[in-house]
Amino acid sequence: MIKVITYGTYDMLHYGHIKLLERAKALGDYLIVGVTSDDYDKTRGKINNQQTLMERIAAVEELGIADEVIVEEYEGQKIDDIIKYNIDIFTVGSDWKGKFDYLKEYCEVVYLSRTEGISSTEIRSSMNKLKIGIICDDSDSTSPVKFIRESAYVNGVEITCSNSDIDSIEKVDDLDTLLRKVDAVYIATHPKNHYDDVKKALYAGKHVLCEAPVCLKASEVEELFSIAKKKRLVLMTGIKTAYMTAYERLVLIAKSGQIGKIVSIDATCTSLKPVEMYGEQEIISNWNTITEWGPIALLPVFQILGTNYKCRQIVSLMLDTDHKFDIFTKADFIFDSAVASIKVGKAVKSEGELVISGTKGYLYVPSPWWKTDYFEARYENPENNRRYFYQLDGEGIRYEIVSFVKAVENQSSISLISEPVSVAIARVMEDFYSENVVSYIN
Ligand code: CTP
Repeated sequence: MIKVITYGTYDMLHYGHIKLLERAKALGDYLIVGVTSDDYDKTRGKINNQQTLMERIAAVEELGIADEVIVEEYEGQKIDDIIKYNIDIFTVGSDWKGKFDYLKEYCEVVYLSRTEGISSTEIRSSMNKLKIGIICDDSDSTSPVKFIRESAYVNGVEITCSNSDIDSIEKVDDLDTLLRKVDAVYIATHPKNHYDDVKKALYAGKHVLCEAPVCLKASEVEELFSIAKKKRLVLMTGIKTAYMTAYERLVLIAKSGQIGKIVSIDATCTSLKPVEMYGEQEIISNWNTITEWGPIALLPVFQILGTNYKCRQIVSLMLDTDHKFDIFTKADFIFDSAVASIKVGKAVKSEGELVISGTKGYLYVPSPWWKTDYFEARYENPENNRRYFYQLDGEGIRYEIVSFVKAVENQSSISLISEPVSVAIARVMEDFYSENVVSYIN
């Protein structure tokens, strides 16, 4: 019996796929089809399949051409499969010509001519695009520029206009006009303006992706989420770290009990710009440390330990008290049976690592952990240590945009960053701005 194997993503199954599978089957007597998992696709740069792995598998199975369907999950699996299933012929489309010659050591390799004029990518891009407008401050062009650059990797979105002068994007000064032109907005203004900006966008019927913190008061975040729910709109909190595969896995592993019961979380995030370089204008218009770094550092704390801490203390070093511009802040939280600390700084440098300590071991993410592609689970006996590596492209922003587009398409309010986490982050901001924070003046 001649056994044939082929692999593919098979997103939005089209006749190019069907013709390939038929010819693959005709090469032998038994056909195995490997459908690529979403995680593995991400590492190969395919980040926005329209269908889930289960849907893609079901579509291939329904064709009835394959004798067996398997999942392709990791680099190097093809060799393992060829040996395991005793494969005679490996085949793929001619777009891969030469790429799999290394398998000739194990079996025959056949490149079948690709069907011209159709691909999943084309089908995806011909679908209706979500028109996104950018609302930001003139003084900060970094986030919008990155957002535009990264959106180019995501099918199904189009950045149509902005209220600010950025790149080649159309500038629309008036917010009402901007909102009329789009389906959704990305809000990256100063956090003190988020509440008004988000509310306006929601009342105009637009979906919102808002940089964290969503607001500087917990009650305001709650109000905005309830408006979004009533109007059946997506309100998503933008913290790019949350959408990185390595970080998602880290949270899952922490919650799975693999390192035992979590007892302590320590997260540090700093960037250094010497104090003397902070001019008056920057103090007034720029993000201070707690708003810029706070949400990122608080993310693992609230996602892993929950948001019901018993007490907390926030200590800051202020550059300017009138505008509450902190250059360093440390916040400690006490939970029922765990503690957490965050250290954040904009004119202070420290090791930007994340340590999650448990009763059986700890998870360690080296600096800069918020751009994480790698982490380790470490134990008393080093032989048990495990390393985890996940490909990361574009600082997670493209995955954030993919999540946003999917949430809008599926009309789903379920986000990787839950409402309670967003509210808890805002509560810390609120506490910082209220008077009961211990602060040391520089
Ligand atoms: N294929 C083909 N003819 C096409 C499209 C795909 O023969 N017009 C083949 C590919 O060469 C591969 C298999 O079908 O062997 C699965 O391809 P996949 O990557 O899932 O499909 P594409 O449509 O090429 O997807 P994308 O546009 O996302 O790359």
